[in-house]
Amino acid sequence: MRNIRFKGSLILGLILFVMTNIVAQNKNYEAQIDALLSKMTLEEKIGQMNQYNGFWDVTGPVPAGGGAKIKYEHLEKGWVGSMLNVKGTEQVRKIQELVVNKSRLGIPLLFGFDVIHGYKTISPIPLAEAASWDLTAIEKSARVAAIEASAVGLNWAFAPMVDISRDARWGRVMEGGGEDPYLGAKIGAARVKGFQGDDLAAPNTIAACAKHFAAYGFPEAGKDYTAIEIGMSTLYNVVLPPFKAAVDAGARTVMNSFNLVNGIPATGNSWLQRDILKGRWKFDGFVISDWGSAGELVDHGYAADLSHAAELAANAGSDVDMESSAYIGHLKAAVESGRVSMAVVDDAVRRILRVKFELGLFDDPYKYCDPKREKELLYHPDHQAAALDMAKKSIVLLKNEKQLLPLKKDQQKIAVIGALAADKNSPLGSWRLGSDDNTAVSVLDGLQKYTKNVKYAKGAELVIGQATFTMETKINETDTGGFAEAVKLAKESEVVIMVLGEHGFQSGESRSRTKLDLPGVQQALLEAVYKVNPRIVLVLMNGRPLAITWADEHIPAILETWQLGTQSGNAIAQVLFGDYNPSGKLPMTFPRSVGQVPIYYNHFSSGRADPTPHVFWTHYSDESNKPLYPFGYGLSYTQFEYSSLDMIMTDAAGRQPVTVQVTVKNTGKVAGEEVAQLYIHDKVAGVVRPVKELKGFQKLSLQPGESKIVEFKLTDAELGFYNNNGDFLVEPGEFEIMVGGSSQTGLKTVITVK
Ligand code: BGC
Repeated sequence: MRNIRFKGSLILGLILFVMTNIVAQNKNYEAQIDALLSKMTLEEKIGQMNQYNGFWDVTGPVPAGGGAKIKYEHLEKGWVGSMLNVKGTEQVRKIQELVVNKSRLGIPLLFGFDVIHGYKTISPIPLAEAASWDLTAIEKSARVAAIEASAVGLNWAFAPMVDISRDARWGRVMEGGGEDPYLGAKIGAARVKGFQGDDLAAPNTIAACAKHFAAYGFPEAGKDYTAIEIGMSTLYNVVLPPFKAAVDAGARTVMNSFNLVNGIPATGNSWLQRDILKGRWKFDGFVISDWGSAGELVDHGYAADLSHAAELAANAGSDVDMESSAYIGHLKAAVESGRVSMAVVDDAVRRILRVKFELGLFDDPYKYCDPKREKELLYHPDHQAAALDMAKKSIVLLKNEKQLLPLKKDQQKIAVIGALAADKNSPLGSWRLGSDDNTAVSVLDGLQKYTKNVKYAKGAELVIGQATFTMETKINETDTGGFAEAVKLAKESEVVIMVLGEHGFQSGESRSRTKLDLPGVQQALLEAVYKVNPRIVLVLMNGRPLAITWADEHIPAILETWQLGTQSGNAIAQVLFGDYNPSGKLPMTFPRSVGQVPIYYNHFSSGRADPTPHVFWTHYSDESNKPLYPFGYGLSYTQFEYSSLDMIMTDAAGRQPVTVQVTVKNTGKVAGEEVAQLYIHDKVAGVVRPVKELKGFQKLSLQPGESKIVEFKLTDAELGFYNNNGDFLVEPGEFEIMVGGSSQTGLKTVITVK
């Protein structure tokens, strides 16, 4: 802190210098963009708004017919502005050469790809990373992903996904930062910075894409692609803030979404894209549709046909059409008939060209096509180290009775049970399109580096889908044939590590579930093993919160390891043997039963919140209201004590900013890290506020016996909220301030904001 203040004037000077330069650069770009626009035909302009999927091996012969031939011709004519799913320096260079050398104006293409949690070196799934609450590590993880992606010719990541979600049934919760808008906003911004770095024109930074705009994370009944009905308060206060944070952090692109938002498809939603994103937030990058979502306006019953869809999407501010050929096929006629103005097209093209200029593609269209970098950087040891660090930090200790964990290094007779324990594919998780199959360190591999005293039994088989991306791989649902071997091994062992959960392809896009239990025969396997040896450490692998209530009641130690990527087994082994003390905290509530979903900590109160002797209060008759594990929860091998919660009003008017101080002490016997969390409750408000809202967190490292004072600042940004018109307000009155190690525990005090 002191250092920063000391260097204040220097930094200010630097900021001014950079700002002046940015303005100068932007000016230059705008003039260059004007010049280019004035040379472009309408077809060429629409071409910039057209994105195609990669379709043939460009190093092979030109395709003879069909869609691929048309795409090839369009590339030659300059009727394509960007491609997705083309990767590798050789392929990218070939296509770029085709466009740069053959098309009339030679405008370079953007190459986009779903770089969701790593390219070759795979980091933990984003939900897991969110559990680290470690913004530096998360930024680094995106940085590594950008370095590898840019080394294979890519210049644009379709990430971060900043969709807040409260519904664990939805398979895509694995791809986001969890249920909380404050944490989600911080993580979204960190990821944008990681991808884009300080200089977008550098050869190892790529454009980020905040997606899916908007409310895609609130699908009805957790089923992917369903219509979304959402109230204004939730939209403004929960859904939109992470997008705004990503835009404020400089995200150069935003992807809209498949879903309806209160009856209007997001892709055709002018209020979201023009009024809010490009209007209020002054976003000057471009918006891309989701795959085919312009065409889906017809399926929704919003557009009569593809031509109508093109008109509606373009007018609503969807600048690029991903793979529905609505723009390339129909926008020209729409402009010529006056249904879409030339100004709409020019604005979209200007935005797209701006990003191309900023990336430096006009200076060197092949800047990402260096085979030497490609060879050197993929799977680089530094990237492995970052992935391992991220993986360790993402693990959450959910239960640890009688200190069963950490295991002793000389522990004898360890049984390892479960198909996922030996699997090297599942830990890579969903959305790892650039990765190589079976490249993760399995739990078994990781443990065997520590000890020879490990014996393995599968217990239940994996049922492997045909193609990793399109087919689900499941855990066997009927065959208990492997149980006997597993039970026998457990009986002969001192401790049993059971690796159970979901396969990596059981979450992700279109992987919604109606149950949140351990899939297949795993629950039965767990119970069978428990009968003969209850000294079980349950290592969970899953892409979403699970309702593992039986396990919580019976199993002494439970470790949430999500899908941790390439370094999975190494990270898990380090935690199991105590070489890393787990520090993760849940970014999403774990329900006790699927019937509680959506369950989230920042809910509203009810007029009937108190249990009374009668039945008329808000509750279930067959399940508690409480979650199994709350948001922000996670244990450590040590304990932390919170004390001396104190407020300092630093404003003369006694208003704000307010400094909140709390002392955190490591009262246990080993060093550890803790995430101190600050929540507020605005007690009375014109638009009612939730019972609790996260408004600050800090990760701190403490030696045994050590204590530190943690400081949080509360400014308007933390104390205010959006009303139903989208205006940001800070209302005077009493606020409860709660600080602790989870959303459910901690110290409390009250402040009055004047
Ligand atoms: C997903 C997007 C993704 C796109 C391109 C869509 O199905 O919803 O998140 O970026 O495909 O792969």
